[in-house]
Amino acid sequence: MSAFAPNLDKVLSIRDLRDLARRRLPRSVFEFIDGGAEDELTLAENRAAFERVRLIPRILTDVSAPDIVTDIVGTPSAAPFVVAPMGSCMLAWPEADICIARAAAAHGIPYTLSTMSTTSIERMANAVQGNLWFQLYVLKDRDFNNQLVDRAAAAGYSTLVVAVDLQAGGKRERDLRNGVSIPLRMTIRHLWEGATHPGWSWQLARNGLPDFENMRGMMGSNDANLTIAARVGESLDASFNWDGLARLRERWPGKLMIKGVLHPEDAQRLVSLGIDGIWVSNHGGRQLDGAVASADALPAIAAAIGNRVPMIIDSGVRRGVDALKARVLGASAVAVGRAALYGAAAGGEKGARLALQILIEELRLAMKLAGTPSFYNAPETLVLSQTTRAPARQQHQYPQLASTFDLAPEKRTPC
Ligand code: FNR
Repeated sequence: MSAFAPNLDKVLSIRDLRDLARRRLPRSVFEFIDGGAEDELTLAENRAAFERVRLIPRILTDVSAPDIVTDIVGTPSAAPFVVAPMGSCMLAWPEADICIARAAAAHGIPYTLSTMSTTSIERMANAVQGNLWFQLYVLKDRDFNNQLVDRAAAAGYSTLVVAVDLQAGGKRERDLRNGVSIPLRMTIRHLWEGATHPGWSWQLARNGLPDFENMRGMMGSNDANLTIAARVGESLDASFNWDGLARLRERWPGKLMIKGVLHPEDAQRLVSLGIDGIWVSNHGGRQLDGAVASADALPAIAAAIGNRVPMIIDSGVRRGVDALKARVLGASAVAVGRAALYGAAAGGEKGARLALQILIEELRLAMKLAGTPSFYNAPETLVLSQTTRAPARQQHQYPQLASTFDLAPEKRTPC
Protein backbone atom coordinates (compact mmCIF):
# COMPACT_ATOMS: atom_id res chain seq x y z
CA MET A 1 0.00 0.00 0.00
CA SER A 2 1.52 3.38 -0.97
CA ALA A 3 1.26 6.41 1.25
CA PHE A 4 -0.93 8.05 -1.38
CA ALA A 5 -3.41 5.37 -2.36
CA PRO A 6 -4.45 2.29 -0.42
CA ASN A 7 -4.42 -1.09 -2.10
CA LEU A 8 -7.86 -1.68 -3.59
CA ASP A 9 -7.31 -5.36 -4.39
CA LYS A 10 -9.17 -6.65 -1.36
CA VAL A 11 -12.16 -4.33 -1.69
CA LEU A 12 -15.47 -6.19 -1.96
CA SER A 13 -18.05 -3.62 -0.99
CA ILE A 14 -18.80 0.07 -0.55
CA ARG A 15 -18.27 -0.53 3.15
CA ASP A 16 -14.68 -1.61 2.43
CA LEU A 17 -14.11 1.59 0.43
CA ARG A 18 -15.54 3.62 3.30
CA ASP A 19 -13.09 1.93 5.69
CA LEU A 20 -10.17 2.74 3.41
CA ALA A 21 -11.36 6.34 3.06
CA ARG A 22 -11.67 6.62 6.84
CA ARG A 23 -8.09 5.45 7.28
CA ARG A 24 -6.63 7.64 4.55
CA LEU A 25 -8.40 10.91 5.35
CA PRO A 26 -7.92 13.16 8.35
CA ARG A 27 -10.84 12.73 10.71
CA SER A 28 -12.29 16.22 10.02
CA VAL A 29 -12.44 15.52 6.30
CA PHE A 30 -13.83 12.02 6.66
CA GLU A 31 -16.56 13.22 9.03
CA PHE A 32 -17.46 16.10 6.69
CA ILE A 33 -18.16 13.48 3.99
CA ASP A 34 -19.62 10.74 6.14
CA GLY A 35 -21.65 12.72 8.66
CA GLY A 36 -25.12 14.18 8.74
CA ALA A 37 -27.07 16.89 10.51
CA GLU A 38 -27.70 17.14 14.26
CA ASP A 39 -28.43 13.69 15.77
CA GLU A 40 -28.04 12.00 12.37
CA LEU A 41 -31.46 10.37 12.69
CA THR A 42 -32.27 10.81 9.02
CA LEU A 43 -28.80 9.64 8.05
CA ALA A 44 -29.38 6.36 9.89
CA GLU A 45 -32.97 6.02 8.68
CA ASN A 46 -31.92 6.31 5.04
CA ARG A 47 -30.00 3.09 5.34
CA ALA A 48 -32.54 1.41 7.59
CA ALA A 49 -35.35 2.16 5.12
CA PHE A 50 -33.57 0.36 2.30
CA GLU A 51 -32.74 -2.52 4.63
CA ARG A 52 -36.40 -2.88 5.67
CA VAL A 53 -37.52 -3.56 2.11
CA ARG A 54 -37.68 -7.31 1.46
CA LEU A 55 -37.82 -8.97 -1.93
CA ILE A 56 -39.78 -12.08 -2.86
CA PRO A 57 -37.74 -13.71 -5.62
CA ARG A 58 -39.32 -15.32 -8.66
CA ILE A 59 -38.01 -18.57 -10.11
CA LEU A 60 -37.54 -20.28 -13.46
CA THR A 61 -37.09 -17.10 -15.43
CA ASP A 62 -34.20 -16.74 -17.88
CA VAL A 63 -31.81 -14.45 -16.05
CA SER A 64 -28.70 -15.38 -17.99
CA ALA A 65 -28.24 -11.78 -19.15
CA PRO A 66 -29.94 -9.27 -16.84
CA ASP A 67 -30.80 -6.08 -18.73
CA ILE A 68 -29.88 -3.04 -16.66
CA VAL A 69 -29.86 -0.52 -19.47
CA THR A 70 -32.35 2.18 -18.68
CA ASP A 71 -33.59 5.59 -19.66
CA ILE A 72 -33.03 8.40 -17.20
CA VAL A 73 -34.97 11.59 -17.97
CA GLY A 74 -34.90 10.83 -21.66
CA THR A 75 -31.22 9.90 -21.65
CA PRO A 76 -30.09 6.35 -22.28
CA SER A 77 -27.90 5.06 -19.47
CA ALA A 78 -25.92 1.83 -19.32
CA ALA A 79 -27.03 1.24 -15.74
CA PRO A 80 -29.68 2.75 -13.46
CA PHE A 81 -27.20 4.83 -11.48
CA VAL A 82 -26.43 8.54 -11.47
CA VAL A 83 -23.67 10.27 -9.54
CA ALA A 84 -25.21 12.84 -7.19
CA PRO A 85 -23.79 16.36 -6.94
CA MET A 86 -21.19 16.88 -4.25
CA GLY A 87 -19.29 19.99 -3.26
CA SER A 88 -15.81 20.24 -1.72
CA CYS A 89 -14.73 16.88 -3.17
CA MET A 90 -11.12 17.93 -3.67
CA LEU A 91 -10.68 17.69 0.08
CA ALA A 92 -10.82 13.94 -0.45
CA TRP A 93 -8.49 13.54 -3.46
CA PRO A 94 -6.87 15.88 -6.00
CA GLU A 95 -9.29 16.55 -8.87
CA ALA A 96 -11.81 14.24 -7.21
CA ASP A 97 -14.71 15.72 -9.23
CA ILE A 98 -12.99 14.84 -12.49
CA CYS A 99 -12.00 11.41 -11.19
CA ILE A 100 -15.61 10.61 -10.30
CA ALA A 101 -17.03 12.07 -13.51
CA ARG A 102 -14.60 9.99 -15.60
CA ALA A 103 -15.58 6.92 -13.63
CA ALA A 104 -19.25 7.65 -14.38
CA ALA A 105 -18.49 8.15 -18.08
CA ALA A 106 -16.54 4.88 -18.19
CA HIS A 107 -19.59 3.08 -16.84
CA GLY A 108 -21.96 4.95 -19.20
CA ILE A 109 -23.94 6.72 -16.48
CA PRO A 110 -24.69 10.42 -15.87
CA TYR A 111 -22.59 12.59 -13.55
CA THR A 112 -23.98 15.65 -11.79
CA LEU A 113 -21.65 18.58 -11.14
CA SER A 114 -22.49 20.66 -8.07
CA THR A 115 -22.67 24.45 -7.96
CA MET A 116 -20.26 23.98 -5.03
CA SER A 117 -17.91 21.68 -6.89
CA THR A 118 -14.21 22.28 -6.75
CA THR A 119 -14.10 22.07 -10.58
CA SER A 120 -15.72 24.70 -12.78
CA ILE A 121 -18.53 23.98 -15.21
CA GLU A 122 -16.24 24.54 -18.20
CA ARG A 123 -13.19 22.70 -16.85
CA MET A 124 -15.36 19.64 -16.19
CA ALA A 125 -16.94 19.76 -19.66
CA ASN A 126 -13.46 19.91 -21.23
CA ALA A 127 -12.10 17.09 -19.09
CA VAL A 128 -14.86 14.50 -19.44
CA GLN A 129 -16.70 13.02 -22.40
CA GLY A 130 -19.87 11.80 -20.76
CA ASN A 131 -23.42 12.66 -19.91
CA LEU A 132 -23.00 15.71 -17.66
CA TRP A 133 -25.74 17.24 -15.55
CA PHE A 134 -25.45 20.47 -13.59
CA GLN A 135 -26.92 20.96 -10.13
CA LEU A 136 -27.96 24.50 -9.27
CA TYR A 137 -28.29 26.03 -5.83
CA VAL A 138 -30.44 29.11 -6.32
CA LEU A 139 -28.34 32.08 -5.18
CA LYS A 140 -29.43 35.46 -3.87
CA ASP A 141 -27.63 37.15 -6.75
CA ARG A 142 -30.03 36.54 -9.62
CA ASP A 143 -27.61 37.71 -12.31
CA PHE A 144 -24.92 35.33 -11.08
CA ASN A 145 -27.52 32.61 -10.93
CA ASN A 146 -28.58 33.19 -14.51
CA GLN A 147 -24.95 33.20 -15.56
CA LEU A 148 -24.45 29.76 -14.00
CA VAL A 149 -27.48 28.40 -15.84
CA ASP A 150 -26.37 29.90 -19.15
CA ARG A 151 -22.80 28.65 -18.68
CA ALA A 152 -24.07 25.11 -18.08
CA ALA A 153 -26.22 25.30 -21.22
CA ALA A 154 -23.33 26.70 -23.29
CA ALA A 155 -20.97 23.97 -22.02
CA GLY A 156 -23.39 21.25 -23.16
CA TYR A 157 -24.80 19.97 -19.86
CA SER A 158 -27.93 18.00 -20.76
CA THR A 159 -29.91 18.32 -17.53
CA LEU A 160 -30.31 21.01 -14.91
CA VAL A 161 -30.92 19.69 -11.41
CA VAL A 162 -32.25 22.37 -9.07
CA ALA A 163 -31.63 21.47 -5.43
CA VAL A 164 -34.40 22.95 -3.28
CA ASP A 165 -33.56 21.51 0.12
CA LEU A 166 -30.79 23.86 1.17
CA GLN A 167 -32.80 26.93 2.18
CA ALA A 168 -30.19 27.17 4.94
CA GLY A 169 -27.18 25.05 5.76
CA GLY A 170 -27.98 22.00 7.91
CA LYS A 171 -26.56 21.98 11.45
CA ARG A 172 -23.66 19.61 11.00
CA GLU A 173 -22.25 19.34 14.47
CA ARG A 174 -19.27 17.26 13.45
CA ASP A 175 -18.13 20.08 11.15
CA LEU A 176 -18.68 22.64 13.89
CA ARG A 177 -16.62 20.59 16.34
CA ASN A 178 -13.92 19.82 13.78
CA GLY A 179 -13.67 23.41 12.55
CA VAL A 180 -14.40 22.47 8.92
CA SER A 181 -15.29 25.92 7.68
CA ILE A 182 -15.01 28.43 4.86
CA PRO A 183 -12.56 30.08 4.71
CA LEU A 184 -10.50 26.99 5.54
CA ARG A 185 -8.45 27.87 8.59
CA MET A 186 -5.67 25.74 9.98
CA THR A 187 -6.00 24.91 13.66
CA ILE A 188 -3.57 22.96 15.84
CA ARG A 189 -5.93 20.02 15.46
CA HIS A 190 -5.78 20.20 11.64
CA LEU A 191 -1.99 20.39 11.73
CA TRP A 192 -1.90 17.30 13.90
CA GLU A 193 -4.34 15.48 11.62
CA GLY A 194 -2.20 16.48 8.62
CA ALA A 195 0.95 15.20 10.27
CA THR A 196 -0.63 11.85 11.02
CA HIS A 197 -1.97 11.48 7.44
CA PRO A 198 1.15 12.21 5.38
CA GLY A 199 -0.15 10.77 2.09
CA TRP A 200 -3.20 13.00 2.13
CA SER A 201 -1.17 16.02 3.30
CA TRP A 202 1.43 15.59 0.58
CA GLN A 203 -1.26 15.46 -2.11
CA LEU A 204 -2.94 18.55 -0.68
CA ALA A 205 0.37 20.42 -0.45
CA ARG A 206 1.12 19.63 -4.11
CA ASN A 207 -2.34 20.59 -5.36
CA GLY A 208 -3.25 23.45 -3.03
CA LEU A 209 -6.38 24.10 -1.04
CA PRO A 210 -9.63 23.34 -2.89
CA ASP A 211 -11.42 26.27 -4.45
CA PHE A 212 -15.13 26.59 -5.24
CA GLU A 213 -14.42 27.42 -8.85
CA ASN A 214 -18.02 28.15 -9.87
CA MET A 215 -18.48 30.50 -6.96
CA ARG A 216 -15.45 32.76 -7.33
CA GLY A 217 -16.40 36.16 -5.95
CA MET A 218 -19.72 34.90 -4.64
CA MET A 219 -19.13 33.27 -1.27
CA GLY A 220 -20.49 36.10 0.90
CA SER A 221 -18.55 37.81 3.67
CA ASN A 222 -15.14 36.37 4.44
CA ASP A 223 -15.01 37.45 8.06
CA ALA A 224 -16.82 34.65 9.88
CA ASN A 225 -15.82 31.04 10.38
CA LEU A 226 -18.91 29.24 9.09
CA THR A 227 -19.19 25.55 8.33
CA ILE A 228 -19.26 24.78 4.63
CA ALA A 229 -23.00 24.09 4.82
CA ALA A 230 -23.65 27.35 6.66
CA ARG A 231 -21.51 29.39 4.28
CA VAL A 232 -23.34 27.95 1.28
CA GLY A 233 -26.65 28.61 3.04
CA GLU A 234 -25.61 32.26 3.50
CA SER A 235 -25.30 32.76 -0.26
CA LEU A 236 -28.55 31.00 -1.12
CA ASP A 237 -31.90 32.55 -1.85
CA ALA A 238 -34.20 31.23 0.85
CA SER A 239 -37.08 33.17 -0.73
CA PHE A 240 -36.94 31.08 -3.92
CA ASN A 241 -40.45 29.78 -4.56
CA TRP A 242 -42.78 28.30 -7.18
CA ASP A 243 -42.78 31.52 -9.25
CA GLY A 244 -39.00 31.50 -9.36
CA LEU A 245 -39.03 27.91 -10.48
CA ALA A 246 -41.45 28.72 -13.29
CA ARG A 247 -39.01 31.45 -14.49
CA LEU A 248 -36.12 29.01 -14.32
CA ARG A 249 -38.13 26.52 -16.37
CA GLU A 250 -38.45 29.15 -19.08
CA ARG A 251 -34.75 29.96 -19.04
CA TRP A 252 -33.30 26.43 -19.15
CA PRO A 253 -33.59 24.81 -22.60
CA GLY A 254 -32.81 21.22 -21.56
CA LYS A 255 -34.25 18.70 -19.12
CA LEU A 256 -35.08 20.05 -15.69
CA MET A 257 -35.12 17.99 -12.49
CA ILE A 258 -35.94 19.06 -8.96
CA LYS A 259 -33.81 17.52 -6.21
CA GLY A 260 -34.95 17.32 -2.61
CA VAL A 261 -38.57 16.27 -3.10
CA LEU A 262 -40.15 14.29 -0.25
CA HIS A 263 -43.83 15.28 -0.25
CA PRO A 264 -46.30 13.81 -2.78
CA GLU A 265 -48.20 17.10 -3.14
CA ASP A 266 -45.00 18.94 -4.09
CA ALA A 267 -44.24 16.21 -6.61
CA GLN A 268 -47.70 16.62 -8.16
CA ARG A 269 -47.29 20.37 -8.42
CA LEU A 270 -43.88 19.98 -10.02
CA VAL A 271 -45.34 17.68 -12.64
CA SER A 272 -48.03 20.25 -13.44
CA LEU A 273 -45.26 22.86 -13.97
CA GLY A 274 -43.69 20.77 -16.71
CA ILE A 275 -40.71 19.47 -14.74
CA ASP A 276 -38.97 16.56 -16.47
CA GLY A 277 -38.00 14.54 -13.43
CA ILE A 278 -38.38 14.30 -9.67
CA TRP A 279 -35.31 13.61 -7.52
CA VAL A 280 -36.45 12.16 -4.20
CA SER A 281 -33.79 13.06 -1.64
CA ASN A 282 -33.13 14.31 1.87
CA HIS A 283 -29.58 15.33 0.92
CA GLY A 284 -28.15 12.18 2.44
CA GLY A 285 -29.36 13.18 5.91
CA ARG A 286 -27.24 16.34 5.83
CA GLN A 287 -30.05 18.90 5.99
CA LEU A 288 -33.31 18.49 7.98
CA ASP A 289 -32.63 15.94 10.68
CA GLY A 290 -35.90 14.12 11.25
CA ALA A 291 -36.84 14.24 7.56
CA VAL A 292 -38.39 11.03 6.24
CA ALA A 293 -36.02 8.51 4.68
CA SER A 294 -36.06 8.74 0.89
CA ALA A 295 -36.95 5.07 0.41
CA ASP A 296 -39.91 5.53 2.77
CA ALA A 297 -41.09 8.64 0.91
CA LEU A 298 -40.86 7.05 -2.53
CA PRO A 299 -44.04 4.92 -2.72
CA ALA A 300 -46.42 7.77 -1.85
CA ILE A 301 -44.75 10.05 -4.40
CA ALA A 302 -44.94 7.32 -7.03
CA ALA A 303 -48.63 6.89 -6.25
CA ALA A 304 -49.22 10.65 -6.55
CA ILE A 305 -47.53 11.20 -9.89
CA GLY A 306 -48.13 7.82 -11.53
CA ASN A 307 -45.94 7.44 -14.59
CA ARG A 308 -46.08 11.03 -15.69
CA VAL A 309 -42.40 11.82 -15.04
CA PRO A 310 -39.42 9.68 -14.10
CA MET A 311 -38.08 9.62 -10.56
CA ILE A 312 -34.57 9.30 -9.19
CA ILE A 313 -33.96 8.52 -5.55
CA ASP A 314 -30.88 9.05 -3.43
CA SER A 315 -29.84 8.94 0.23
CA GLY A 316 -28.58 5.68 1.63
CA VAL A 317 -27.72 3.67 -1.49
CA ARG A 318 -24.81 1.40 -0.58
CA ARG A 319 -25.67 -1.88 -2.35
CA GLY A 320 -26.66 -2.78 -5.89
CA VAL A 321 -29.81 -4.43 -4.61
CA ASP A 322 -30.96 -1.01 -3.35
CA ALA A 323 -31.43 0.00 -6.99
CA LEU A 324 -33.72 -2.98 -7.59
CA LYS A 325 -35.71 -2.14 -4.46
CA ALA A 326 -35.99 1.48 -5.57
CA ARG A 327 -37.19 0.41 -9.01
CA VAL A 328 -39.92 -1.74 -7.56
CA LEU A 329 -40.96 1.13 -5.30
CA GLY A 330 -41.30 3.40 -8.34
CA ALA A 331 -37.93 4.98 -9.22
CA SER A 332 -36.24 4.82 -12.64
CA ALA A 333 -32.74 5.08 -11.18
CA VAL A 334 -30.81 5.69 -7.99
CA ALA A 335 -28.22 8.37 -7.36
CA VAL A 336 -25.13 7.79 -5.28
CA GLY A 337 -23.25 10.39 -3.32
CA ARG A 338 -20.98 9.07 -0.61
CA ALA A 339 -20.54 5.65 -2.24
CA ALA A 340 -18.72 7.27 -5.17
CA LEU A 341 -16.83 9.70 -2.98
CA TYR A 342 -15.59 6.96 -0.62
CA GLY A 343 -14.19 5.32 -3.74
CA ALA A 344 -12.45 8.50 -4.90
CA ALA A 345 -11.15 9.17 -1.37
CA ALA A 346 -9.69 5.65 -1.26
CA GLY A 347 -8.10 5.64 -4.70
CA GLY A 348 -8.96 8.54 -7.05
CA GLU A 349 -10.47 7.59 -10.39
CA LYS A 350 -9.63 3.93 -9.90
CA GLY A 351 -11.47 3.90 -6.58
CA ALA A 352 -14.49 5.74 -7.97
CA ARG A 353 -14.70 3.30 -10.89
CA LEU A 354 -14.48 0.43 -8.48
CA ALA A 355 -17.32 1.85 -6.37
CA LEU A 356 -19.61 2.08 -9.39
CA GLN A 357 -18.53 -1.33 -10.67
CA ILE A 358 -19.34 -2.92 -7.31
CA LEU A 359 -22.84 -1.42 -7.34
CA ILE A 360 -23.47 -2.48 -10.95
CA GLU A 361 -22.23 -6.04 -10.37
CA GLU A 362 -24.26 -6.34 -7.18
CA LEU A 363 -27.35 -5.16 -9.04
CA ARG A 364 -26.85 -7.73 -11.82
CA LEU A 365 -26.42 -10.46 -9.22
CA ALA A 366 -29.49 -9.34 -7.25
CA MET A 367 -31.57 -9.41 -10.45
CA LYS A 368 -30.44 -12.95 -11.22
CA LEU A 369 -31.19 -14.14 -7.71
CA ALA A 370 -34.54 -12.36 -7.71
CA GLY A 371 -35.45 -13.95 -11.06
CA THR A 372 -35.76 -10.54 -12.72
CA PRO A 373 -34.35 -10.35 -16.27
CA SER A 374 -35.18 -6.68 -16.87
CA PHE A 375 -34.47 -3.83 -14.46
CA TYR A 376 -36.96 -1.54 -16.12
CA ASN A 377 -39.71 -4.12 -16.06
CA ALA A 378 -39.04 -5.50 -12.59
CA PRO A 379 -42.46 -6.60 -11.35
CA GLU A 380 -44.11 -4.72 -8.48
CA THR A 381 -44.92 -8.07 -6.90
CA LEU A 382 -41.21 -8.52 -6.20
CA VAL A 383 -41.32 -6.41 -3.08
CA LEU A 384 -42.61 -7.22 0.35
CA SER A 385 -42.38 -4.03 2.31
CA GLN A 386 -43.88 -2.28 5.30
CA THR A 387 -44.46 0.66 3.00
CA THR A 388 -47.14 1.01 0.35
CA ARG A 389 -46.22 -0.34 -3.04
CA ALA A 390 -45.94 1.90 -6.06
CA PRO A 391 -48.88 1.97 -8.51
CA ALA A 392 -48.87 -0.24 -11.59
CA ARG A 393 -46.29 0.98 -14.05
CA GLN A 394 -46.33 0.99 -17.83
CA GLN A 395 -44.06 -1.64 -19.27
CA HIS A 396 -41.30 -0.26 -21.45
CA GLN A 397 -38.58 -1.92 -23.43
CA TYR A 398 -35.34 -0.28 -24.45
CA PRO A 399 -33.78 -2.97 -26.62
CA GLN A 400 -32.20 -0.42 -28.95
CA LEU A 401 -30.16 1.04 -26.10
CA ALA A 402 -28.27 -2.10 -25.24
CA SER A 403 -25.67 -1.64 -27.95
CA THR A 404 -25.18 2.07 -27.25
CA PHE A 405 -22.58 1.47 -24.59
CA ASP A 406 -19.13 0.12 -24.67
CA LEU A 407 -18.30 -0.74 -21.12
CA ALA A 408 -14.75 -1.76 -21.79
CA PRO A 409 -12.58 -0.01 -19.23
CA GLU A 410 -10.85 3.03 -20.66
CA LYS A 411 -7.11 2.95 -21.05
CA ARG A 412 -6.66 6.25 -19.26
CA THR A 413 -4.33 6.73 -16.33
CA PRO A 414 -6.49 7.31 -13.29
CA CYS A 415 -6.02 10.81 -11.91
C1 FNR B 1 -23.57 16.30 -0.84
N1 FNR B 1 -24.81 16.57 -1.39
C2 FNR B 1 -24.98 17.68 -2.18
N2 FNR B 1 -26.15 17.87 -2.84
C3 FNR B 1 -26.32 18.92 -3.67
O1 FNR B 1 -27.38 19.07 -4.28
N3 FNR B 1 -25.28 19.81 -3.86
C4 FNR B 1 -24.09 19.70 -3.21
O2 FNR B 1 -23.18 20.50 -3.40
C5 FNR B 1 -23.93 18.60 -2.33
N4 FNR B 1 -22.75 18.43 -1.67
C6 FNR B 1 -22.53 17.24 -0.97
C7 FNR B 1 -21.26 17.00 -0.44
C8 FNR B 1 -21.02 15.78 0.19
C9 FNR B 1 -19.64 15.52 0.75
C10 FNR B 1 -22.04 14.83 0.31
C11 FNR B 1 -21.79 13.50 0.97
C12 FNR B 1 -23.30 15.08 -0.19
C13 FNR B 1 -25.91 15.58 -1.29
C14 FNR B 1 -25.82 14.57 -2.43
O3 FNR B 1 -26.09 15.15 -3.67
C15 FNR B 1 -26.83 13.44 -2.24
O4 FNR B 1 -28.12 13.95 -2.10
C16 FNR B 1 -26.48 12.56 -1.03
O5 FNR B 1 -25.10 12.39 -0.91
C17 FNR B 1 -27.17 11.21 -1.19
O6 FNR B 1 -26.94 10.40 -0.10
P1 FNR B 1 -25.79 9.27 -0.03
O7 FNR B 1 -25.76 8.56 -1.36
O8 FNR B 1 -24.53 10.02 0.23
O9 FNR B 1 -26.22 8.43 1.11
